[in-house]
Amino acid sequence: MTDAASINHLWTHRTQDHPWLADEELVIDRAEGVWVWTERGTKLMDAFAGLAVVNVGHGRREIAEAIAEQTVRLAYYPTTRQFSNRPAAELATRLARLTPGDLTYTMFAVSGSEANERSMQIARHYWLARGREAKHKVISLQGGYHGATSGTYAVCGLPHMVQAYAPLQYPGFAKVTPPHPFRDRGTGTDTELVERRAEELRQAILAEGPETVSAVILEPILSSGGFIIPPLGWLRAVRAVCDELEVLMIADEVITGFGRTGRWFAVEHEDVIPDLMSTAKGITSGYIPLSASIARRHLAEAFDAHTTQENVHPNTYAAHPVACAAALANLDIMEKDRLVENAAAMGARLLAGLQAAVGKRAIVGEVRGRGLLVCVDLVEPDGSARALDAKRVAELDRKAWERGAIVYARGSVLRLAPPLCITGQEVDKLVGIVADSLAALEKD
Ligand SMILES: Cc1ncc(COP(=O)(O)O)c(C=O)c1O
Repeated sequence: MTDAASINHLWTHRTQDHPWLADEELVIDRAEGVWVWTERGTKLMDAFAGLAVVNVGHGRREIAEAIAEQTVRLAYYPTTRQFSNRPAAELATRLARLTPGDLTYTMFAVSGSEANERSMQIARHYWLARGREAKHKVISLQGGYHGATSGTYAVCGLPHMVQAYAPLQYPGFAKVTPPHPFRDRGTGTDTELVERRAEELRQAILAEGPETVSAVILEPILSSGGFIIPPLGWLRAVRAVCDELEVLMIADEVITGFGRTGRWFAVEHEDVIPDLMSTAKGITSGYIPLSASIARRHLAEAFDAHTTQENVHPNTYAAHPVACAAALANLDIMEKDRLVENAAAMGARLLAGLQAAVGKRAIVGEVRGRGLLVCVDLVEPDGSARALDAKRVAELDRKAWERGAIVYARGSVLRLAPPLCITGQEVDKLVGIVADSLAALEKD
């Protein structure tokens, strides 16, 4: 058994997320499908897929075998100095086919943060190659989260996460409000809300000076920001603003990519093709870390094909052969088991189930979702629609744990993002656990 003293050497365990449970109770030992077991033998439904990562579910031997085989054949070789490897080339080709439109060229990295760094760097180099040297700013959304590096913190819309680094940041990047119907539709329509927010984005770029703005970066659904789901039409409106003002559009699909929302990529709900797409998490379902920034053809064509001059610098593990082999096996499973279709069907079942079971509770403001990103937004029961105290909301982690599921309760929002392989029966069980947990919280 893993003891508390050894766990305490982990930097992350200097802070406490589950103050009601000892660290030793939270050692996750093994997992299969949507289920995890702690070292002490507690079985729980993983209703957040780790961190919205394990799309194909836990314990898939095919991925383990692909990793083992590739590790023995070629564990590592760089893709700099014109070297390449088969899994990397095969995966890049497959991504070009799988992603919408002419998203064609992939720069691999290791984490979601780095994929966004690469996307922003490719955007910057693109403008340099086009002779537009002043274009460097990246506009983002309030509530947006793009990673934990200095570059991505500069575009982070969650002030509490970046406060400590404020002196290190470039001061001039505007952050605009995303359309969040539940909180600010008011008496108008979703269409009016989208138009209003898109105009604010347009004005923000105009205020910065379009000649200085390189890109807009945004999550199609703002996950860390509280599962904010902009109405359909928003991405198209952003695309139009970007086209009008000659600004690149970067879609951060780190969470939404690879089936999570019931389409391969969330931009497909609106047939929008961003200039760059950042992906990670579901690309390997977390069996091994990998991320990718995927660029449209016209971006690549801005660079002289015969130059020996490097543009964006890759990191050591870019296009790691073992990670790419894992991704290929992961995509095989997603296609063979039709997990994107399953995410759409099970997401609809989870949403409808929760709406029926808890939608009318006094502490429930809204149940919303797209695919298997589903949440319950909680309010004070006094009819004021004020967000429920975050400390009370956090109690739902414990209540769900005691009923057999790991959920993620933060801010005013109880968040669910189970593996895409979840079955109907498992969805119904999860609905029951969430409903019982909310009933218990309301009673308290
Ligand atoms: C939308 C989004 N972008 C980027 C990241 C950062 O990814 P990573 O933690 O792999 O660096 C995350 C992480 O949760 C995310 O949700």
